[in-house]
Amino acid sequence: MTYEHLMGLANGYADSKVLLIANELGVFTAIGTGGHRVEALATSCGTTREGMRLLLHALAGLGLLRLSTGRYWNTPLALRFLDGHSPYAITNLLWLLNHHWSNWTDMTRAIRLGRPGWAPVTRTAAFRRRFALAMQERSHVLAPPTIASFRLPRQAARVLDLGGGAGSYSIALAQRHPRLQGLVVDQSVAVARRLIRQQGLTDRLRVEEGDLFTAPLGTGFDVALLSNVLHDFHEKDNIRLLRRVQQALRPGGKVFIVEYFLNPAGTRPSEGAIFSLLMYAFTGTGRCYAWNDVEGWLSTAGFFRCRRHRVTATIGTLEAVKR
Ligand SMILES: C[S@@+](CC[C@H](N)C(=O)[O-])C[C@H]1O[C@@H](n2cnc3c(N)ncnc32)[C@H](O)[C@@H]1O
Repeated sequence: MTYEHLMGLANGYADSKVLLIANELGVFTAIGTGGHRVEALATSCGTTREGMRLLLHALAGLGLLRLSTGRYWNTPLALRFLDGHSPYAITNLLWLLNHHWSNWTDMTRAIRLGRPGWAPVTRTAAFRRRFALAMQERSHVLAPPTIASFRLPRQAARVLDLGGGAGSYSIALAQRHPRLQGLVVDQSVAVARRLIRQQGLTDRLRVEEGDLFTAPLGTGFDVALLSNVLHDFHEKDNIRLLRRVQQALRPGGKVFIVEYFLNPAGTRPSEGAIFSLLMYAFTGTGRCYAWNDVEGWLSTAGFFRCRRHRVTATIGTLEAVKR
């Protein structure tokens, strides 16, 4: 790493924060498809003129806005992903990243003194709803290429999506495999219910609100999915979860795990190692795990024939067959 890289790393948070603050204030949505002056944007976002002007200049400097004859315009990228009216908007995902700001602020103390545990706000219905929307904004892009790599058991007809959140993976699976029926289990299912209805899949996908560790799951599933769930828990709970999944599957059924898998040392990919640290402050007991950790748990829980697959530089899938 060079000195320039080091300084870029040290200052990186400022660029992030400019974007996250603008999202929090609704600047991109207020600009929309028009060109607006500082005064109008300060009024519609409820800010001071001076603060808004400096924020707009920082955004233009980053290439997210364009300044032309005293008016500010969204760039095509901002219009597509940052204007809340766009079907591709990631405004809830950016809200979540801004929430994580508080986890990073508390991190030094957490590393010194221990995990703070789930913040009380994360248990509220409002937080869980917005969290589900954030997951949807992330997962609806990642789900299709991820599930395309799944080798489903022959004649697969029933899928269990445990911790399915907004149901993004179940929806992608149902759209790709017209014979599949699914059950999404999560502590918060309102967003999944709405999206399943919007996609016209209510006759094939069911949702069940409940706790992953205690909700009745039923049996005879061909496929079980744990997408971005294991990083919420410690090893013992993950083995418990995998045992529950094993019991819910029919013999020869398959589990698919989607995660930030790490190398055995836990250092790479760096995005996974950094996310793992974030989970230390955000969750009660979670972190990211190495491929071989999870393969060991799968074997303990009664699975065999593990197969790894990399979807992106940071996300992978691990599939295994019920013994
Ligand atoms: C990181 S999200 C992943 C959502 C989805 N699988 C995806 O990949 O988009 C983790 C999900 O697990 C759910 N969850 C965590 N702990 C839970 C518990 N004890 N009981 C039920 N759901 C839980 C959360 O509500 C959340 O939807």
